[in-house]
Amino acid sequence: MSAELAIRDAIAGRGPITFAEFMELALYGSGGYYASGSPISASGDYFTAPSAHPVFGALLCVQLREMWRLLGSPAEFTVIEEGAGNGGLAADISEYAARLDSDFSDALNYVAVDIAPPARQHFPVLPLEEAPAGITGCVLSNELLDAMPVHRFEVRDGEVFEIFVTLEGDRFAETLQPPSSLEIERTLAPFVESLPDGYRGEINLQLESWAQRQAKALGRGWVLAIDYGFERSELYRPGRTSGSLRTYYQHTLGQDTLRHAGEQDITAHVDCTALDEAMTSAEFQLTGKTTQAEFLSRLGIHQAVEQLEASNLSRPESRANEQGIRSLLDPDGMGRFVVAAYSRGIDQFDLAGLSGPADGSATRLPDLPRLNPARHINLVDQQQTGGYFEVQSLEDLFSDRP
Ligand SMILES: C[S@@+](CC[C@H](N)C(=O)[O-])C[C@H]1O[C@@H](n2cnc3c(N)ncnc32)[C@H](O)[C@@H]1O
Repeated sequence: MSAELAIRDAIAGRGPITFAEFMELALYGSGGYYASGSPISASGDYFTAPSAHPVFGALLCVQLREMWRLLGSPAEFTVIEEGAGNGGLAADISEYAARLDSDFSDALNYVAVDIAPPARQHFPVLPLEEAPAGITGCVLSNELLDAMPVHRFEVRDGEVFEIFVTLEGDRFAETLQPPSSLEIERTLAPFVESLPDGYRGEINLQLESWAQRQAKALGRGWVLAIDYGFERSELYRPGRTSGSLRTYYQHTLGQDTLRHAGEQDITAHVDCTALDEAMTSAEFQLTGKTTQAEFLSRLGIHQAVEQLEASNLSRPESRANEQGIRSLLDPDGMGRFVVAAYSRGIDQFDLAGLSGPADGSATRLPDLPRLNPARHINLVDQQQTGGYFEVQSLEDLFSDRP
């Protein structure tokens, strides 16, 4: 059944559904966006850090190796990557582990899982239910939390209403109703007076249960989550009147979430404060938070650029690699993503990516990897063929300026 039909059926059976239910069906229902394609590619709808350059995976590997050492170099160090998509990051990390340190590589048990494993994979990606429990190691995710279904709200005359989805003729339409959960009102209570009439935003009510699941998955070690997000006071800033919900359709950013049901990605910024709260109540301790640009710099990304300059790559290859690396640090794009680490069952340790020397001088990184056309996107080619995104709206998407 197509996602659109499944949504129609749900509405026909029950009346208006919450936007979170709409998003769940549109992305993960049968015939949904993630269930039926491979969106992260040159021909897909968007790219992520692992598809931009393998140095992202290599530097994460360096961080994981440090974690392994901090735990006393156990014989088995398990990484569960949640939301692994096509397994590109898993492949990059595993390959660099073998290059970096054979003892670490031998200890590394890398389990990639996804709620909707795609057909085309660079590394075996298992269904989510097959993730192990009680591991010693790290639960890692990149751009997972932004893909979770969110509830939407609108402020009217100082009151919070929830945006539901209904059918008007043969079109999906919005309708406002009282919130479906007290949690929505509770979260917004401190902000609602300052929010202008017509203000719209989103709330992810799944973070608590996600954090509880991580507590079962992880016996000793860290959760490391990378995503775009803001602290709550920034997320619900009065000037951000249309929230952070966005769509990606054929590399174009949009906001019409009810169109192309099942054929476009829908994503929302993460409420980093809510993530901290959920992790704390699941008995994790916050190790630290930083931006992706700082994290990769502390782990030594400049060495990738130096190695590139010293290489005898052709000019086009060199430019493509440089562009991929720069995109990871872009202050208006992925460079400002948030990297958050939480620990459980262990002493508090500093991590190199969060509090090592800012220039990454503490690590020597041998033989950093280059773009592999089978796995990564050549961003220079993409730009020459008409631009990767309709870039004008990226500023709006990631802006934290009033
Ligand atoms: C934006 S994609 C990111 C894929 C990959 N991590 C990357 O960076 O290229 C989000 C992925 O998370 C998966 N996903 C969404 N919700 C999930 C959940 N609750 N558990 C596991 N995977 C989930 C989706 O199926 C999708 O593959």
